[in-house]
Amino acid sequence: MILNIAMDGPVGAGKSSIASAVAGRLGILHLDTGAMYRAVGLTAIRRGVNLADEAAVTALCRAIQVSVAHGPGGQRTIVDSEDVTDCIRTPEVSMAASTVGRYAGVREEMVAIQQRLAKETPMLLDGRDICTVVLPDAPVKIYLTASAEERARRRHLEMVHKGDDTPYEQVLADLRARDDQDMNRKVNPLRPAEDAVIVDSTSLTFDQVVDAIIKIVEDKTRE
Ligand code: DC
Repeated sequence: MILNIAMDGPVGAGKSSIASAVAGRLGILHLDTGAMYRAVGLTAIRRGVNLADEAAVTALCRAIQVSVAHGPGGQRTIVDSEDVTDCIRTPEVSMAASTVGRYAGVREEMVAIQQRLAKETPMLLDGRDICTVVLPDAPVKIYLTASAEERARRRHLEMVHKGDDTPYEQVLADLRARDDQDMNRKVNPLRPAEDAVIVDSTSLTFDQVVDAIIKIVEDKTRE
């Protein structure tokens, strides 16, 4: 059987880096599904599509091809034939990804691609609806979270290291706005699946979180 691990959680819980490390230790691929919504958001911005226009965003999403490639440096995210990996991490694209993720048609397209990939290859998928919608039968489900203040503190620190001088209060406000949109949208809102194991990383180090998740995987796959 193909081993798939499903991981959800809010903005800045460290899902992507933790997911990469866990997948690396298990020798499976990591699919960052947020990058796919970011690719749609970026393309909408670039083409001047009004993000508030559900029909226009959905039509755009159906007209483009979002794909991923996995290499030694991790996941590359591709729109049609353009590698957009290095353009999708700005605050503007983050919010656009969250906005396009509200639309049922967009979610349908993304979920179908993710389910197809997960069927073909053992992988760890991280996102907002992986445990609840994309892989409801995954043998291992994790909900990774931390307090909003701690998530904002980590995100702010990362930004400082990159020379970005956005104040902490702004980072916290942006994070809360995105949490609000992701958790309160009508279609597949972010929430812990009933059978997910909740990992609260607020007072854990990176390595402790990775170890805790590896232990959950070992326990669940032994059951
Ligand atoms: O994981 P991330 O921060 O890169 O995701 C960006 C946005 O994409 C997130 O705010 C909501 C949306 N998203 C989603 O709706 N469903 C997913 N499975 C992954 C991301």
